[in-house]
Amino acid sequence: MKKTHRAATPALSPALLRRLEKNARAAADASYSPYSEFPVGAAIVCGSGKVFTGCNVENASYGLCNCAERTAIFSAAATGERIVHAVVVYTPTPTPSSPCGACRQVINEFGPDAIVISVCDGPGRIETTLSALLPDAFGPRNLL
Ligand code: THU
Repeated sequence: MKKTHRAATPALSPALLRRLEKNARAAADASYSPYSEFPVGAAIVCGSGKVFTGCNVENASYGLCNCAERTAIFSAAATGERIVHAVVVYTPTPTPSSPCGACRQVINEFGPDAIVISVCDGPGRIETTLSALLPDAFGPRNLL
């Protein structure tokens, strides 16, 4: 059997998690969401240690709307990042929301071991892992 090597998730300090949460909330300010009027923000920390942010970017052709999480991940990947350690998503809701199915699949590409945290306007938060949100994911290893 082929050995697989997974990058260990580094310790995500409370200070880094606080920074990601703050950045995710701030990223929603740039949301382009005239159709849903639902501004979402995301912040991720990558293999290099750099933090990237994203917001949802909608389109008059509704099916082309891009979620905040995918905007952040694609921005990071476009600079050469290939590992996502953690994703924080902010939704403007009283209770937290987990990433949609499409975003879970995109997170899996670079962050199968990622921590996923959802924050909102209320006190609630969800702290989970990508593998809990997308068990038995189809990913790069399935194509080997
Ligand atoms: N949206 C996100 O950006 N991330 C999520 O986790 C949930 C949904 C966006 C997509 C769309 O622009 C709007 O929120 C309403 O679904």
